[in-house]
Amino acid sequence: MIYEKFSDIKTAVAGCSGCAYAVTRKNTVFGEGSLHAKVMFVGEGPGAVEDETGRPFVGPAGQLLTKMIEAIGLTRNDVYIANIVKCRPPHNADPLPEYAERCLPFLRAQVAFIRPRLIVCLGKVPTRFLLHEEGSMGALHGRMITKGSFTFMPTYHPSALLHNEDLKRPAWEDFKKIRSFINDD
Ligand code: URA
Repeated sequence: MIYEKFSDIKTAVAGCSGCAYAVTRKNTVFGEGSLHAKVMFVGEGPGAVEDETGRPFVGPAGQLLTKMIEAIGLTRNDVYIANIVKCRPPHNADPLPEYAERCLPFLRAQVAFIRPRLIVCLGKVPTRFLLHEEGSMGALHGRMITKGSFTFMPTYHPSALLHNEDLKRPAWEDFKKIRSFINDD
């Protein structure tokens, strides 16, 4: 699907009934931020607060992500934040691969418009669907992986940091790499 305008993608997402998550969602969560962002953060899918509000990463994990973005001298308005799936998987389950594949053309269209220099994969789900990497986050995090005209960096999902304090240090090292990458760009 070719979209003429960025807002056409949002309209398509709002009207999508392509999988069972559309039946249980309260709101679609399209994504938000700068259309000129150098960095795009991609999570797995909306949680309860995101489903209620229609905004990505605004619950507890999102508040931590926001703090980390600010700690490297950026704001949410400087970056773009989106997810692999645009509707909440019930019970916070990982998105089913079949539904993720159906939803991915929306994210690909967002990426094609924004053309970020760096795509940060937050946790295993975006790392699997965008990079086809199945290794542990312990092994993959912080690696800069160039594919075509984009560079990707897997890092821990912020909710993992909320459950395991020990991951905060390596995650912060990853965020410092994001800062260097965009400052060198
Ligand atoms: N977790 C995600 O992966 N995405 C969100 O938008 C919120 C929580």
